[in-house]
Formats: sequence, structure tokens, C-alpha cells
Amino acid sequence: MDATAVDHSAAALSDSVPADSVPMGSGAVGSAATGADPRAALTALRGEVAKTVVGQDPVVTGLVIALLCRGHVLLEGVPGTAKTLLVKTLSRALDLTFKRVQFTPDLMPGDVTGSLVYDNRTAEFEFREGPVFTNLLLADEINRTPPKTQASLLEAMEERQVSVEGAARALPDPFVVCATQNPIEYEGTYPLPEAQLDRFLLKLTVPVPTRDEEIAMLQRHAAGFDPRDLSAVRPVAGAADLAAGQAAVRTVHLDPKIAAYVVDLCRATRQAPSLQLGVSPRGATALLATSRAWAWLMGRDYVTPDDVKALARPTLRHRVQLRPEAELEGATADGVLEGILAHVPAPR
Ligand SMILES: Nc1ncnc2c1ncn2[C@@H]1O[C@H](COP(=O)(O)OP(=O)(O)OP(=O)(O)O)[C@@H](O)[C@H]1O
Ligand SMILES: [Mg+2]
Repeated sequence: MDATAVDHSAAALSDSVPADSVPMGSGAVGSAATGADPRAALTALRGEVAKTVVGQDPVVTGLVIALLCRGHVLLEGVPGTAKTLLVKTLSRALDLTFKRVQFTPDLMPGDVTGSLVYDNRTAEFEFREGPVFTNLLLADEINRTPPKTQASLLEAMEERQVSVEGAARALPDPFVVCATQNPIEYEGTYPLPEAQLDRFLLKLTVPVPTRDEEIAMLQRHAAGFDPRDLSAVRPVAGAADLAAGQAAVRTVHLDPKIAAYVVDLCRATRQAPSLQLGVSPRGATALLATSRAWAWLMGRDYVTPDDVKALARPTLRHRVQLRPEAELEGATADGVLEGILAHVPAPR
């Protein structure tokens, strides 16, 4: 694959991550899941997911970046845009365990993390694992459940363990949460507080497919595709590739000028007139991490300003808060970030 032929144009940035330029799905299946060439194996994921999901490449790439960074993801999209299908397919293609929880107003913390159950035969309490004990957890409509239950998930995300009655139980590795939020319905919801949003590495938007993509999807269905049957999806990569990829990402060279650029972008959000909350230092570390993972996926051992630009919106959009008056005037987090990217000088 030719990693130098990369399009970093503004058009490529039109969605979450400019995945159109990622040389993914190039028949790297031979070395899959062996850890021999983790980049080729992870690159092959896109082609595998495309067996079930039409389009949505930036979302797939974003999820791979999150897995490489051991970070969690917010997925925002209207119902029926293949969020569930995508995460389920990805877990199969990565040979990872998958679970889904529908967050409802009556869900209890123990329904997420697990709880102690009395066993009549042994006359002892036994821990029954909740759905967080999985590699990939789809937390559907996380903002429909009250803060106490949200907090139990967020604690598990942060600590990668669950504590019940003083005993800590480690979660599997990798453990990545994909939490969905419906962007339209706010009634009866409990929006995640800013401090909690900051704990998500990326916020990916799942767009409605283009006309051509939707037609291709219908043709697949007409030809007999059943979204409940994912048996055609092969494990082309695995946890070993993710671990090797993580180690490789840590060797990606970081010029001090790039670190300064990341900081300048984040500082600019703190001074933007239309924002009442700018990006935290944690957000700055997140942007550095995602840019580095992206650089590695692109086949480079150094980070460029374009890598930072490519990841700025998905990494920062949920970490800034618009002033109410700016929101009324139609400002969006992405729009403000775009303006900042256009104005903050990038290193040469
Ligand atoms: N891009 C797409 N490619 C292929 N199938 C799609 C696509 N978008 C939607 N579909 C079809 O729509 C169905 C619904 O998708 P899915 O249940 O994954 O959506 P969702 O985003 O999880 O919805 P919800 O928010 O209601 O949970 C899929 O099973 C699939 O048949
Ligand atoms: Mg769903």
C-alpha cells in the first residue's frame, strides 16, 4: 500500500476522520490476527466491515484509532444508521467479544457492572458479571438512564475494573465502550455532564448514507443480506494486532513543534468568544494520542500538522461548550473548531 499518496485536503476532512484516504482493505488478510504485520491486519478491517455496512468508513477508522489508544467513543447518529451493525461487525472482524446494553430510565448500576447473587446450594454470595465484562460494549442511548447508572459505566470505563463489596474485578483487555446518543431527542434524557464527556476519546458522527450508498444497501438486502447473520465476516485481526499496534504507535516520533501546535489549538478554544468552555489539558493529550495513532495507521513514523487537523474535530468537538447565544445564532462545535484550525498557524 502506498501510504505517501495521502489526500489531506479540506474535502477529505468533511467527516469525522478522512478515512477515504486510508489505504484500508487492501487484501492484508494473509497476515491477519498473527501480530506479524499489525498495521496490515488492522487496515484489512475496513474491507471486512464493508461486507455488511455500506460506507461509514470514517466511523470504522475512528473506532480503530480508539482501540489503538484504548479510548472510548461516543457515536452520534439518528436511529437506523447501522451503528449497532457496525460495532457488531467490527467486533467479529477483530475476534473480540461484544455486548450491548440498552440504557433505560429504570436501569440499575448492577445491571451494567454485575451484582452479588445468593447461591442457595453453596449458601454464599456469588458475583454475576454484568455486560461490562466484554471487549466491545455498545451502550445504547446512554443519556436515557439516570446519573447513578451512567456513573457506574463511566467508572468502569475509567478504571477498567468493577468494584463490588470491596473486591475489584478487572475488565477484559481491550475494553472499549461505544456509547450512542440520539442527536434529536432530548426529552426525558439525562445529558452527560461535561466532565464525563471529556472521558470519551472521540465523538464520531454517523451520517445518513448518501443516495448511492443507500441504493447499494437496498440492493444487498434484495440479494438476501440478513443483518442478523454475520457469519460471512471473518476475523482478519485480533487483540494481538491491537497490542502490537499500540506499542508501535508509542514509537511514532513527535516533533516539539507538533506538541506546541496541539497546545495552541486547545488554548485557542479557551479564548474563542462563542465558547463558554474550552478544551481541557486532558483533551490536548487526547488529540496528541489520536493524531499519533492516525499517523501510524497512515504508514508514517512521525506526526504531521495535517494529522492533527484530521483528528481535531472528532477528538475535540464534545469537549467544548457553546455559549447559549452562539448556539441560538446557529454556531456549532465543528464550525468553531474549523475556524480555529483555519486561524492557528500550523508548523511547517
Ligand atoms: N450504511 C448501511 N449499510 C448497510 N446497512 C445499513 C446501513 N444503514 C442502515 N442499514 C440497515 O439498517 C438496519 C438498522 O441498522 P442498525 O440497527 O445497526 O441501526 P442503529 O443505528 O443501531 O439504529 P438505532 O439507533 O435504532 O439502534 C441494519 O440492520 C441494516 O439493514
Ligand atoms: Mg442500534
